[in-house]
Amino acid sequence: MLENIKVLYKEEELQQRIAELAKQMDEDYHGKPVTVVSILKGAVFFTVDLVTKMKTPIELEVMQVSSYEGSESTGKIKVKKDLDNSIEGKDVLIVEDIIDTGYTLKYLKEYLQTKHPNSLKIAVLADKAERRKVPVEIDYTGFVIPNKFVIGYGFDYNEIGRNLPYIGYIEM
Ligand code: IMP
Ligand code: MG
Repeated sequence: MLENIKVLYKEEELQQRIAELAKQMDEDYHGKPVTVVSILKGAVFFTVDLVTKMKTPIELEVMQVSSYEGSESTGKIKVKKDLDNSIEGKDVLIVEDIIDTGYTLKYLKEYLQTKHPNSLKIAVLADKAERRKVPVEIDYTGFVIPNKFVIGYGFDYNEIGRNLPYIGYIEM
């Protein structure tokens, strides 16, 4: 199934845009340490390339969440892997691969807010804006993408395709 992929953003475009985001974050955080909360599994790739381009010191946390089984995302999200350390009083940046309906990030934002961070921002590599069901304010967006099922660079189709160095799509 990996033979019919159309490239949406090639490796150089991804890396160039991620460098721009990293620069913007460095300017915004003024060298204050940031606690990056990377959302497994998809955001691993984006997170590594982003934080290695940032000059801001970071602490890294990972979380994993899942939507309950079913057809469309219902907004019922479950924490599968929680934070290891307290984020109370910290400047926290959620790093996620994509925002689609918005249910996942709405949940995560509300959940992390209950831990009393000093600030809480969100970075997404891709935004399928036309699919949004619930509004979520996003602070850093890599690309606003068309309503296509994307794979590569963290995005999977049944766990396959994450390690492609570019983002592509398959016509469904
Ligand atoms: P949301 O709760 O609908 O915003 O869901 C976001 C999640 O859906 C992401 O974390 C991805 O795991 C998944 N997702 C949405 N669109 C795609 C896609 O095009 N390719 C791969 N995964 C996707
Ligand atoms: Mg995901």
